[in-house]
Amino acid sequence: TFDDVEFYPGDPIFGLTDMFNADDREQKVNLGVGIYLDEMGRLPLPQAVGVAEKRLAEQGASHNYIPMGGLPSFIPADQELVFGADAAVVAEGRIATVQTLGGSGALKEAADFLHVLMDANVVALSDPSWANHAAIFGGAGYDVVRYRYYDAANHRVDVDGMLADIRALQPGAVVVLHACCHNPTGYDLDAEQWVRVTEAVEQAGAIAFLDMAYQGFSRGLDEDRVAVDTFVASGQRFFVGNSFSKNFGLYGERIGGLSLVCRDADEARRVSSQLCKVVRANYSCPPAHGAQIVTTVLADAELRASWEAELAAMRDRIRAVREALTAGLHEAGVTDMDFVLDQNGMFSYSGLSAEQMQRLRTEHAVYGTDEGRICVAGLNEGNVGHVVKAIAAVVSR
Ligand code: LMR
Repeated sequence: TFDDVEFYPGDPIFGLTDMFNADDREQKVNLGVGIYLDEMGRLPLPQAVGVAEKRLAEQGASHNYIPMGGLPSFIPADQELVFGADAAVVAEGRIATVQTLGGSGALKEAADFLHVLMDANVVALSDPSWANHAAIFGGAGYDVVRYRYYDAANHRVDVDGMLADIRALQPGAVVVLHACCHNPTGYDLDAEQWVRVTEAVEQAGAIAFLDMAYQGFSRGLDEDRVAVDTFVASGQRFFVGNSFSKNFGLYGERIGGLSLVCRDADEARRVSSQLCKVVRANYSCPPAHGAQIVTTVLADAELRASWEAELAAMRDRIRAVREALTAGLHEAGVTDMDFVLDQNGMFSYSGLSAEQMQRLRTEHAVYGTDEGRICVAGLNEGNVGHVVKAIAAVVSR
């Protein structure tokens, strides 16, 4: 009954932003949610996105419904970014792609599609993984199991454990893999390890979902495609979910894509139609604005070059703040956190305990998740000193 409805205490990640906003201490730093902030601590709007929005406004962009599968011009643009300009799988028409509500929407679409059509009911997530992975697949009716991933003692990926756990999965299980910039740990696989993962997935008869929410934040748009390329080369069917939240700064527009690489064009056409059916049943059709922005930028050589340059600058800045953090920590006498330099993307698994993370918050107004994740993309010259002092204080006792 309604009398039994329990209060939802909030999301562990978004809840931190609420706590941060309510904190009235002057020197507070939000390293909770995965958003990229610039050197001034502001959420930047890529110049190309601003130009595209202006152009769309001048053209009086239509507010009509768009097709269930998404804006028609968005689909090839998304495929080109995810699979590469000259990808044979694109030319062969073997990919079924639909526009989604960000990366989360892609996960939900795939989860529903596989559950209903393929009877999939087990999902394997990395230990640890982004908290919403379990929530989305759990909500879609899956049992959640874990494969080993983070080796806490050695600050690296437990590749052998990961492979053994994937090989032991039951046929039809869905394996969610982080294509780059693993969330929350920041530890990624190299090219040779990806080959071994594709073999393990195939051996188990499982199906991979590559979550690529951070394309461009590790080494580059092309380089960050290594997992996608390796799965394509393996010849197996697999999903990729990609997001424009982070690399275009379009967080609130909810724009992303879901692609399933199929055996042939006919299969792709049939799968595509079923994905549209899932969209229709979930929310009818996706919103237009974000897709119009992305398509405008990617189709215009000048805007695209400008966006790519800004994305490269974001990546470089994140690398620089990782270095500033470790240099500062060394000066403060904390010399055992250099592993932060081996991690990729926005997140760093700091190795701090839940109690230390809570002390960072309560005693120093530095916000990260209880599991020890900090979003290094929120650091800048102006706040890194405070964060260093805070970490040094909580590790000293
Ligand atoms: C994060 O992990 O902080 C981001 O992906 C934002 C979110 O939706 O949780």
